[in-house]
Amino acid sequence: MKVETLRWFNNRLEMIDQRILPAAFEYLSYYTAHSVAEGIRSMVVRGAPAIGVAAAYGVALEAQHLQEKSAADFKTGMETGFTVLAASRPTAVNLFWALQRMRKVWESVTTQSPQQVAQRLLAEAHEILAEDIRINKAMGANGAALLKDGARVLTHCNAGALATAGWGTALGVFRSAVEAGKKISVIVDETRPFLQGARLTAWEMVQENIPVTLITDNMAGHLMAHGEIDAVVVGTDRVAANGDVANKIGTYMVAVLARRHNIPFYVACPLSTIDLNIASGKDIPIEERSVEEVKGFRDYHWAAEGVKIRNPAFDVTPAELVTGLITEKGVVLQPDGQGIRKLFG
Ligand code: MRU
Repeated sequence: MKVETLRWFNNRLEMIDQRILPAAFEYLSYYTAHSVAEGIRSMVVRGAPAIGVAAAYGVALEAQHLQEKSAADFKTGMETGFTVLAASRPTAVNLFWALQRMRKVWESVTTQSPQQVAQRLLAEAHEILAEDIRINKAMGANGAALLKDGARVLTHCNAGALATAGWGTALGVFRSAVEAGKKISVIVDETRPFLQGARLTAWEMVQENIPVTLITDNMAGHLMAHGEIDAVVVGTDRVAANGDVANKIGTYMVAVLARRHNIPFYVACPLSTIDLNIASGKDIPIEERSVEEVKGFRDYHWAAEGVKIRNPAFDVTPAELVTGLITEKGVVLQPDGQGIRKLFG
């Protein structure tokens, strides 16, 4: 089954509502930058590349929405659209990467009518979506070569088709390995508090009959100590210029455990997720989400009333714990500033 996380349908953007998966599979429709920003903020769409694609469509939708306005009002409305989208979530750099790319296109056609600008921006959003799938397939092939036949691979969160325009980054590596005839099995951390592992990764793997076992986040060390994990592959939201990796909260813990047990720890990372403007992981903005997410799940609260709660949504794994960055341009082993710069050379 092909998962279309985002699709252009009847002149509007449709996105799978990832908050209700796997209990229900539903698309929600979007017509403006403001509604797309709300979709990103509220996690209808999540995962770094998917957030970038959604933001690109948000810009295109805003242009379409404003195209009958005067040139001055069009410009003001577009600037507001960019600002609202940029404020939707802070950590995944793909959001800002996509907005910058859309802004460049807009700037290249400012002498054209709003209708023409809107058409050009929509074409660019379509291209960003198609390109994301192509990149994921290239990354998948590069990463699949690192996994031996029969490998039992741990992943954290969801870096799958649902986190991208399709195929996925970490899960794309698994899909490519299976396509290449390798028998692999996936172990997925539940990924508290939003349960992207239990709800989304498990769902994607089950849909495709890729063997998958769900564990809670505190079980990974036990399985590693018992020789039940051969490799770890995760996605990322932002990689700093020195190779430090921000990803879903709990990733750092997995990386430390992997090093303790001599298990390779790979990060699947399109070039659009590398932020050369940030020197090291300590400067990556880490989103702090609502305490409601940690209190319990949806309407059911199990935490003691009155307890203080923290909810950082991401953590940073230092480059020294990363065995390799899997990119569409190849694998950078023991990533550091030099290895990363070469990718852009
Ligand atoms: O909070 P989320 O669900 O947006 O976090 C997603 C992750 O941390 C993913 O691992 C990351 O974005 C890579 S997705 C290919």
